[in-house]
Parts: sequence; C-alpha cells; structure tokens
Amino acid sequence: MCGIVGYVGSKNALQVVVEGLEKLEYRGYDSAGVAYVTEDKKVSLSRAQGKLSALKELLYKSQSNTHAILGIGHTRWATHGKPSEENAHPHVAGRVSLIHNGIIENYVELRSELLKKGAKFFSETDTEVAAHLLNDYLTQGLSPLEALKKTCERVRGSYAFVAIDSENPDRMLIAKTATPIVVGIGEGEMIVASDIPAILPHTKQVKILEDGDIAEVTKDKISFFHDGKPVERKTITITWDAVTAQKGGFKHFMLKEIHDQITASSDALRGRILGEGISIPEVGLDFSSFNRIVITACGTAWHAGLVAKFFFESIAKIPTEVDYASEFRYRVPVLDSNTLAIAISQSGETADTLGAIEIAKKSSKTLAVCNVVGSSLTRKTDATIYTQAGPEVSVASTKAFTTQLLTVLLLALKMGEARKVFSDVNKVLKDMQHVPSAIQSSIHNEGKIEELAKQIHTARDVIFLGRGINFPIALEGALKLKEISYIHAEGYPSGEIKHGPLALIDEKVPVVIILHKSDQLLEKSISNLREVEARGGRVIAVTDADLPDEIKSLCEGVIEVPHISEFLSPVLMTIPLQLLAYHVAVLNGTDVDLPRNLAKSVTVE
Ligand code: AGP
Repeated sequence: MCGIVGYVGSKNALQVVVEGLEKLEYRGYDSAGVAYVTEDKKVSLSRAQGKLSALKELLYKSQSNTHAILGIGHTRWATHGKPSEENAHPHVAGRVSLIHNGIIENYVELRSELLKKGAKFFSETDTEVAAHLLNDYLTQGLSPLEALKKTCERVRGSYAFVAIDSENPDRMLIAKTATPIVVGIGEGEMIVASDIPAILPHTKQVKILEDGDIAEVTKDKISFFHDGKPVERKTITITWDAVTAQKGGFKHFMLKEIHDQITASSDALRGRILGEGISIPEVGLDFSSFNRIVITACGTAWHAGLVAKFFFESIAKIPTEVDYASEFRYRVPVLDSNTLAIAISQSGETADTLGAIEIAKKSSKTLAVCNVVGSSLTRKTDATIYTQAGPEVSVASTKAFTTQLLTVLLLALKMGEARKVFSDVNKVLKDMQHVPSAIQSSIHNEGKIEELAKQIHTARDVIFLGRGINFPIALEGALKLKEISYIHAEGYPSGEIKHGPLALIDEKVPVVIILHKSDQLLEKSISNLREVEARGGRVIAVTDADLPDEIKSLCEGVIEVPHISEFLSPVLMTIPLQLLAYHVAVLNGTDVDLPRNLAKSVTVE
C-alpha cells in the first residue's frame, strides 16, 4: 500500500514529511508528492513520478529555503491509473489538497456526477473524486469537519484521507475506514502517518483512528468525531524500535505478509462483488469467444495456475493447460484466436513470463493477473486484472499467491456466467465473503504450528501430499519450505505416493498431507495417510474435516482450518503451510525475507 505522512508544528514540515516518507519506502511505491503551507499561509504542491529522490530534487530546485508550517506527503502504490506525476497524490480540487490510501469502489459513479456539475479532472485516480467532493462541501459553506463527514458518507470502499483546506491552513483533516492512520502526539506538534516508522523519530505517544473516525489536527489539538459526535481515542506508547516498526511489529516481512492476507483477501475482492454480480470492467474481453485457455507462470504463480485450471474447467467448462513460462516460451505452443493466454505474475517483471507472453501474443488474446500496476507484463497483455494485494516485500510469495487464487476464481466465475454453464455463482460469491475471517481462524493455529516446526526443522526431506484442487497446494507448501529453510521438500498428488515416493518414507521423513472434507476422495487420502504412517512416516495432517480420533492418533500433528467450499479450500490450506515453512526457517536461522540465491523478481532468464 502507499505511505502517508502529515505534520503540523514548529519544525520544517517539508523536511519532516519527506524524511517520514523515506522511512516508509520499504512499502514499495511508484510516485510521490507533497502539499505544504508556507509561512505566508499559501498552499503549494510538488509531485514526481518515480522514487522519492525525484521529488527531493524537484523540491531542492524550487523550495530549498522554504520553511513550511504544515505539510502532507504521499508515496503512491498505483491501484487506479498508471504511475505518473498526474496520478501522484496530493490531488487538488479548488481549496482542497488531499492524499488517500485505499480503494474508492464507487468512484466511477461519483466522477460522472461531479463531471456533470462541471468538475475538471486531471488524473485517472479514484482519489481525485474525494478531493472534489470535499471541496464542493466546503464551498457550500460547511465547516471543515462537517464537509469531511459528508465526503466520507458519499464514498464507498476503504480510505485513509489526509487533506488541507487552504482556507484553514493551520490544520489537517483526516478520516479513516479500513486503511490505517496513526497520529503522533508531540509538544506543540502533531504528525500523522499510515505507519509507525514515520512517527517514531518525533514521538512514541500515538492515537490510532478507528474505522469511521474523522478528525481535525492542529499543532496543539486533535478533535476526533465518530458519527458526528466528539469521541476520545486513548493514547498508547509505542515500544517498537524503527526496524521492527517497519514490519508492523512482526519479526519478518514474511510473517507480516502472512497475517496481511486477512486484509489482502478482502482487498482482492474489493469493488468486484457488487450485489448479485461480479464486476471486472477493466478486463473488457468477450469471454464467450474463447474455447481454450493456456496459463503460463513461474514458481508460486505457476501453482496458482494449476488451481486456476480447476476453476476454469469445472466452472467455465473451458479446457485449460498450465505451463511453466520457462518451458512455454521455448516449445512451439499451438495457439489460435479462440485461445485465451493468461500470465500470472506478482511482479509483472519475471523474464520467463514476459518471454512466454510475447510468444502467446502472436496468435492469441492475452490477459495478465498481476499485483504491480503498470509493470512490464501489464503493458504487454491485451487486458490485466490486478490482485490488489499491496506490495509484497518478502521473497517468499504469500499474500500475492492467495490473492491470485481469489482473482482467478472471480475470472472463472465471470466466464462461467458469460458462457451460461455455471449456476452456483452467487453461492461461491457468498462463500468468498467469508474468506478473510476464515484466514484469520487459520492463522490462529500459529502456536500449534510453531510447536510442529520444532519437531521437523532438523529433517533432511519433507513430503507434501494433496489431492485434486489441493495438489497444487502440496507443491506450494513444498516450495515455501525449501526456498526459505533450505530443507529439501517435494509435493505429490496423494494418490502418487505409492508409485515411488513411498520408498523415501521412514521415521526421518515428515509427511504433510492435506485432507479436504468435501473432497470426494477424502477416504482415499486417509488411506494414503495410513500407508505413510504404517512405514514409520511422521504425518502432519492439515484438514477442515473432523477426523476420527483413530486417524488423529496416527498423526504427529493435526492442523485444523475452517471448512469452506472446495473452490476456496486452497486459500485456507495454504496458510498453515506458509506458517510451517516460516517457523522452520526461523528455527534454522536462515534469512527468511532474503533467502540465499533467490531474488524477489527473477528479471533474468
Ligand atoms: C515464490 O515464493 C518465489 N518467490 C518465486 O517462485 C516466484 O513465485 C516466481 O519467481 C514468480 O514470480 P512472479 O510472480 O513475480 O512472476
């Protein structure tokens, strides 16, 4: 997500804001900007595409001696509209300069309403509509807080707003729903930020806004309101150091991003499930024109492609192939205009995936499922659907993977609906709404998983087993473990264990087996569990089924996740495997976020 910093007080607000944004750089961004009030009470704006250094250079050239008494700054991770100076925040409308983290789901309708009233837009962002709304209410004579309250009532989605009203340049207007804002309380100064690290150099006393809060912040006072009534928010003392704060208090970015999946899963669906239907207007392909799908990707994204195959074949009834991009690009794939080629990639910069899509483009329509707005892949394909997971810092992909699964499931449902071959769309959509809370319940197993990690972290080999839609999750669990703990691990279809891998099994080899309740092959999977246990294998079961005690007694550990429909079980079964890999790696003392020999994005062949 983006970074927000605002300051009012006796220090140079420009310097505080820019230094604060530098402390949030780890969050990933593609442009930056500041709005600031100089001592003559004038509001100025500076924005630049690219890294903060571009903004600093711009400021140095134009404002090197400027002392600002108030300032708001933003580093943007593009969600609506490509990375550019015009799309960078703050956005200005009349007397309002506004920055925003989050997604405004109804910005299209708000934008057309404002255009009809003569508003002029200069960006492709959803944020700009909020600046216009606030300005409209202020120019109608509402007080700043009343105008902010009205603005928040019109906006649907997630937001952290920080704004300056040029008629009241001694205060910041802030509002929050579903996207964090924290206020640091200083002596004669206040600092507002999306994240603690920007605040720590100034104060450890903070107040955290709750969903639905709005507030007015001057250098000496914060006035909180909720549902139009004044409220108090308690002050808490931050005990983290700066490095820990960057990880939101977690020891590693990977653990933070595993926990982030609770919010990332709702962000992936945000704005896409409206009432009775699915809304993915940005894809703009005629789904009924395809009679075949080929999916190309690498690593974890390839595992998402294997799950997507189940979705497209069982929901959209379209034959689907999945190919490693590094293989696809060098074989002579048979494609035609009725084939849809889908590339799945978190970074959108993976060389093999880019090479594969170049091949596909020659004869097929192409679609990217990607997390990085404006990345190379998204500029090559005919259409893109973004997974909206926010920046993923750790090399091991976690929230990017589960949001890929949710995104391709939405695509399959949309195609099944367009081809009139799937009647349970609304049932699956209803189930999808439960995913964030189900992920939260899955994560509650962390203590038990940490204990299991102690039992297996010295193993030389670990086998992961899964059937059907969860076979790719066995592959993903194995990849997670090997790439961060350096323990050799393999994933197999449970039914394959007896065709060779069983020879590997003895008391030194832990076997992690996924048992999904509504998998009509549950009984066969339980037989596979018995086969392993009978040969001394140490079984860890990951299941949403209520296993009989007799089966549980065969296991070294049983990790229970909530039951959810089969299409969504891969999302939930992945969580314990991510946590298991993480805790094993921590026990083995590896560099969890930057494993040896690996890169976050493999931009070379
Ligand atoms: C997964 O944990 C790895 N980091 C790696 O396999 C990754 O999924 C692969 O390199 C593909 O990256 P992409 O999604 O950015 O294309």
